Amino acid sequence: MEKRKVLGKMKSWKKLHAHFKKVKEFNMREMFEKDKDRFEKFHLVYENMLFDFSKNRVSEKTMRHLYDLAKECQLSEKIEAMFRGDKINITENRSVLHTALRNRKSKPIKVDGSDIMPQINEVFAKIRKFSDAVRFGEFKGHTGKKLTNIVNIGIGGSDLGPVMVTEALKKYWAKDIHCHFISNIDGTACAEVLSKINPEETLFIVASKTFTTIETLTNARTCRRWLVEALGEHAVSKHFVALSTNKAEVEKFGIDSENMFEFWDYIGGRYSVWSAIGLPIVIAIGMDNFEKFLDGAAAMDKHFRTADFEHNIPVTLALLGVLYNNFFDFKRYAVIAYDQYLKYFPAYLQQLDMESNGKTVDLQGNFVDYSTGPVIFGGAGTDVQHSFFQQIHQGTDIIPCDFIVPAISHNEIGEHHDILMSNVLAQAEALMKGKTEKEVAAEMKKAGKSVEEVKFLKAFKTFSGNRPSNMILFKKIDPFALGMLVAMYEHKVFVQGVIWNIDSYDQWGVELGKQMAVKIMPELTGELHPMEHDSSTLSLIKAIRKFRK
Ligand code: F6P
Repeated sequence: MEKRKVLGKMKSWKKLHAHFKKVKEFNMREMFEKDKDRFEKFHLVYENMLFDFSKNRVSEKTMRHLYDLAKECQLSEKIEAMFRGDKINITENRSVLHTALRNRKSKPIKVDGSDIMPQINEVFAKIRKFSDAVRFGEFKGHTGKKLTNIVNIGIGGSDLGPVMVTEALKKYWAKDIHCHFISNIDGTACAEVLSKINPEETLFIVASKTFTTIETLTNARTCRRWLVEALGEHAVSKHFVALSTNKAEVEKFGIDSENMFEFWDYIGGRYSVWSAIGLPIVIAIGMDNFEKFLDGAAAMDKHFRTADFEHNIPVTLALLGVLYNNFFDFKRYAVIAYDQYLKYFPAYLQQLDMESNGKTVDLQGNFVDYSTGPVIFGGAGTDVQHSFFQQIHQGTDIIPCDFIVPAISHNEIGEHHDILMSNVLAQAEALMKGKTEKEVAAEMKKAGKSVEEVKFLKAFKTFSGNRPSNMILFKKIDPFALGMLVAMYEHKVFVQGVIWNIDSYDQWGVELGKQMAVKIMPELTGELHPMEHDSSTLSLIKAIRKFRK
């Protein structure tokens, strides 16, 4: 087991701690007024992406301390260890190699002594062949019809990535392909999709890394029954394929391994969108576009691996998050995409970040005495300006925001995009500047309000400001840009995991509830008498049984 100094005892941490007394007093509005070059100093550009982090409560000294912290945590060595294929997921004894899927020049990467690139390339070739055959109508359904409805059955990492990317790249879809997603075990999820599609034209993709996830297998069995009832048992091989690491379970389920697209243990579920899990995306947008998505991620990998910390976008983004989480005590983080096609991005990021860094035990097995992953939430702008933004502007707790913005829309209609862009810029500026009581009073007076009205209302209309945000600006969200964006956040999560000294690649926290559900199920259906529960759970089991009688 690797030794590491406790975070609080690190030199750089202590320095940051001492410096924080000053940082707390920073006022961004004043900083911008005093320093006309602030944007120049606090922004980075890479490819068609601009990362503006000038609206953060930091000085150049703060950033230096943060970069020193990264150095003291041996971030460079850890980055190399990940890319090299060291088993950095120590609780599962696995390499973490989603980056190998973007290793476009196929430079050898070894896991347990063997180069994994040939197996990766072989699956990509199989995906290209199959997706083309579906897209061009060569691989037909049992009755000879073209497969135009693609139904992905998966959950968590086997759902959120494909959902998010297919939606984000909707403009690149083949005209006659329609993608559907079934994830929830709630029968409604199945019922709603099945009610819209024709079995003769439907391809079901059962996506599950383990192929043991109860939601996915139950949904898949329901869909299989539905198909067999309509077209007979022989139709299954023309309408079902599997994406998994578990050949034995796929075959047990009744899907021929010929119809299975493999990935491997070194690809974490929430990092698997680049792998065979991307098959629904490939059918929708074509392999050439998917490769551009991989290229974008590869470009971000190169940047992350080679840029020094001071010019490194994911490193900088991650360190700002550490400053807010561990020093300012801001425990929530909002990500708002000003692009309708990115409406599922915050949900995707929620799993990526919260399942990775929602941990309390460090790599040495000790409970940490500092906070780790924040609560991530978000949505699409401008919609969310009319829901949770009130709290972001005037709530008692400060919530740092990332704004994701494409300068060019896929749908340039009239003045829509200009309005959208002015809104995001206005939000970031308003959060930073706020509005003083004096400004409010002057504005109200000018509008002819009475002295009493001004006196009473001015506090309500005041904005404290000094609320941080990052602007992540792209030229346009095309497959390449999306690849960069997703990989940027993957690396951000990685960096924070290194600083917090946790295993970002396991997910033991989702196990307990799953185990207990297995025990409750027969008690709920009446096969077993409910026992050994607290009074609340016991009474709820009884109440549900009564309602269902
Ligand atoms: O939620 C736990 C989890 O294991 C995720 O990490 C994973 O993405 C999801 O379940 C689905 O797992 P599988 O792909 O094995 O069905």
